[in-house]
Amino acid sequence: MEINTLINQHKLKFDKFYNKVLNKKLDKSLLARAMKYSSINGGKRIRAFLVSQSSKMVNLSSKNAMLISSCIESIHAYSLIHDDLPSMDNDDFRRGKLSNHKKFSEATAILAGDALHDFAFQLISENLNNINPKQNLKLISYLTNCTGHDGLAGGQSLDLLYENKKISKKKIIEMYNKKTSKLFEFSFSAPFILKKESFRRINFSKNYGSVFGIIFQITDDILDEINSFKEIGKTPGKDKKQGKRTLLSVLGQKKAINFCEQLTADFIKKYKSEFKQNPILEDMLSLNIKKVKKIN
Ligand code: IPE
Ligand code: IPE
Ligand code: MG
Ligand code: MG
Ligand code: MG
Repeated sequence: MEINTLINQHKLKFDKFYNKVLNKKLDKSLLARAMKYSSINGGKRIRAFLVSQSSKMVNLSSKNAMLISSCIESIHAYSLIHDDLPSMDNDDFRRGKLSNHKKFSEATAILAGDALHDFAFQLISENLNNINPKQNLKLISYLTNCTGHDGLAGGQSLDLLYENKKISKKKIIEMYNKKTSKLFEFSFSAPFILKKESFRRINFSKNYGSVFGIIFQITDDILDEINSFKEIGKTPGKDKKQGKRTLLSVLGQKKAINFCEQLTADFIKKYKSEFKQNPILEDMLSLNIKKVKKIN
């Protein structure tokens, strides 16, 4: 089946599960409504798809895969609410709707982000089934590494610090690694960690998520420049206006795409046998590059 069809089918399944979890655990308070506004019904659910594919590779139950995906999509939703705040990227739109602080208020948006972050840790610490507690704790500790000062939050801080400055390609990649790749790294490797796979395979899964994340952010930056509001559901052309330091701003579009293609080729070469056994891994890595090329 074509990869986009698989992603869309999985999105329907995941959205149903995630809806149920959120509705079961949250009340009807203002804060809960703001949390649901930015997490239910929206998003490509690409991180959840990554979890589903790596879960299949190591035979993790689909219930546990859905719970981990719900945890990750909650962290992701928190990061988007905060990313849109006036003190960060200041975007009035997200997923084709008003961003959280525009729909509610700035204070509610900050708190909804905080609470979604905590909700994610609640899911991963209370609800997994038949998992060795030691492995579970290992996973939670790893998640703190991926979201905290060395991960998503640290990367977001660099993204803001770098605005309108001359920043090297190396530093930009380091920033992408933290703000974007760490959560993808967690998404793809969580099932491998829970199932206590070999050191080499866990390493492979982390590196796969990491490479996926770098390409994802580079192509997001290109889409910001070349795509429409209708397609991306957020204000286009913002990165340039805000002086964001992106790989696109340093290399230009053609070289940025070449960089992604080279990264993909090198990675496939390094882990030939994994790619041979699971052809979908290559389709997933090329997904966003193909999307950008199609628009051009
Ligand atoms: C947007 O992520 C933020 C980036 C890391 C570039 P997505 O493009 O996955 O956002 P949704 O979930 O589909 O809205
Ligand atoms: C955000 O990167 C990455 C996050 C960790 C939220 P961007 O600022 O480029 O994301 P968009 O374009 O607003 O979705
Ligand atoms: Mg940002
Ligand atoms: Mg942004
Ligand atoms: Mg962007």
